[in-house]
Amino acid sequence: MRLIFAEDYEDMSCEAAKIVSGQIYLKPQSVLGLATGSTPVGLYDRLVQLYQTVGLDFSGVTTFNLDEYVGMSSENPESYHYFMKKHLFSRVNLRPDHCFVPNGMAEDLEEEGRRYDAMIEAAGGIDLQVLGIGRNAHIGFNEPDIKFEAMTHEVRLDDETIRANARFFAREEDVPRYAISMGIRNIMLARRVLLLASGPEKAEAVYAAACGSVSPKAPASILQLHRDATIIVDAAAAARLPEAWKEKRFYNF
Ligand code: PGA
Repeated sequence: MRLIFAEDYEDMSCEAAKIVSGQIYLKPQSVLGLATGSTPVGLYDRLVQLYQTVGLDFSGVTTFNLDEYVGMSSENPESYHYFMKKHLFSRVNLRPDHCFVPNGMAEDLEEEGRRYDAMIEAAGGIDLQVLGIGRNAHIGFNEPDIKFEAMTHEVRLDDETIRANARFFAREEDVPRYAISMGIRNIMLARRVLLLASGPEKAEAVYAAACGSVSPKAPASILQLHRDATIIVDAAAAARLPEAWKEKRFYNF
């Protein structure tokens, strides 16, 4: 695992954009795994900037998002598909037929999970998976006590996640209770993983991910076993990590 210590949210987003754009420059046909939430918005803004200023070319790129709420169509402004169109898909030259999000409207979610996994496989697997992290150390919607071997499947959101996501809805009751999410196995199969964390409310989760024992109780801790995982943390999210690790900008273990 590799940690990059960024100063703040801006710095974290710049570092992340370097890694994602570097991936696209090196392999124009890259398959990216993408995440929603507040954390990657700065990364997406910088990728849009790179597209506009230096012509970062997304025309060969394929994307697979981690998750979607059950029962939400891509036209619903609260859906993750809509979020992605707004923050990235509509702002760069990604081909719309190369951008995939699990279908939360599918009648048979088990079948939808299998279909999504098969599409990822047919695309050649994920080259670089971008992740945020929940306060409970979830990645995607893989909540504590998840099975590490899970592929894309229906999940019930934790109460903590429902409370955290209520800020995107008019009322907490409106937050969907179920989602369809790539599983931990999908994430572990990605060739590279890039997890972003910003703000004091993520400090415990980052500590569990990087320093805690590998356990389904802290789903992100599995990344300690990934062969190419990078975590970019800002100072607030790094608060619980050992001071000795933070002496330089990078720390590898
Ligand atoms: P956030 O969500 O980026 O909105 O904090 C991250 C997550 O829950 O995975």
